[in-house]
Amino acid sequence: MPELFDPITLRGVTFKNRVIVSPMCQYQAGPDGRVNDWHIVHYGSLALGGAGLMFVEATAVESRGRISERDLGLWSDEQVEGIARVVNFAHRWGTKIGVQLGHAGRKADVSEPIVAPSAIPFSEHYQKPVVLDEENLDAIERAFAAAAKRAVQAGFDVIEIHGAHGYLLHQFLSPLSNQRTDAYGGSPENRVRFPLRVVRAVREAVPDDMPVFIRVSGSEYSPDGYTMDDMILYCRAFLEAGVDVIDVSSGGNVPVAPKSYAGYQVPFADAIKRATGAVVASVGMLDDPLLADAVVQEGRADMVAVARGFLRDKHWAHTAARRLNKPVSVPQPYQRAY
Ligand SMILES: Cc1cc2nc3c(=O)[nH]c(=O)nc-3n(C[C@H](O)[C@H](O)[C@H](O)COP(=O)(O)O)c2cc1C
Repeated sequence: MPELFDPITLRGVTFKNRVIVSPMCQYQAGPDGRVNDWHIVHYGSLALGGAGLMFVEATAVESRGRISERDLGLWSDEQVEGIARVVNFAHRWGTKIGVQLGHAGRKADVSEPIVAPSAIPFSEHYQKPVVLDEENLDAIERAFAAAAKRAVQAGFDVIEIHGAHGYLLHQFLSPLSNQRTDAYGGSPENRVRFPLRVVRAVREAVPDDMPVFIRVSGSEYSPDGYTMDDMILYCRAFLEAGVDVIDVSSGGNVPVAPKSYAGYQVPFADAIKRATGAVVASVGMLDDPLLADAVVQEGRADMVAVARGFLRDKHWAHTAARRLNKPVSVPQPYQRAY
């Protein structure tokens, strides 16, 4: 069985280890959604930390799809140059970098009108969304494809489609937020139809050798949400449409947070991996290096994403490698510390 610090190759990209810096919203951009000094310093320091792959935060494909008015965006060509600086710096220091493309749907906290599969607000703190019609579905599919093309232009190695945490694509997948009576609602086959359009459009927009990930919520923590059987059906469809990695998180489509503990989301990744044979990433309180390594060695996930652990220690992957007695290769200016 592979180990956490073994390389992995997906399509044309080889990652030096299986550690991922999980996407983390910074809410530090201006209303123009462009990279500024915060992003250069934050992502720059993460790029030196030894992960096989780092993700840039959920980045909006449409202005009305921002989680907040301080999100990064790739909805316009003007946003490419700044984010390309982040990519170039990561590459200069040998780190693969991806971007998570997202649309918040009914969880958008912006001043413009917001959209969703059905007119069901997320909570009393959010706007009531406008139901997406065919024309707007087309527009959002095109926006994902256009943002993916901009990400390729910026030089990213990987695209992750955000299909988790109660954002737009998750809203389609879930009977809690999707009560449509047209071809996009009702059965699991119908509920996956729009997310699948997005996956296909992104796959088509990027080169064949570029891996595409999708993040999903493996459980909704609600008796009225989708089931693991539904999720397996969704994942099979995504894999058939050319997704390379299922990145398995959970929750976000109801306002209550689940109980969390070390490795609490591993069973969802494991179940999806076993049912579909997919390459999966697991995330969620896996910042104990021994645990992260065990998850990979036991074949429960192929890659491990760490979020808060990297905020506490930007060099988490180097720290973990030392703990696991693996060779540590730090950037030349830091070598005297090792
Ligand atoms: C500050 C912060 C921002 C986050 N932003 C995102 C995001 O943009 N996209 C996403 O999929 N998850 C986001 N998450 C969730 C993390 O990627 C991760 O799944 C979660 O924190 C659990 O991992 P951890 O226990 O290693 O922190 C965020 C988490 C934190 C702490």
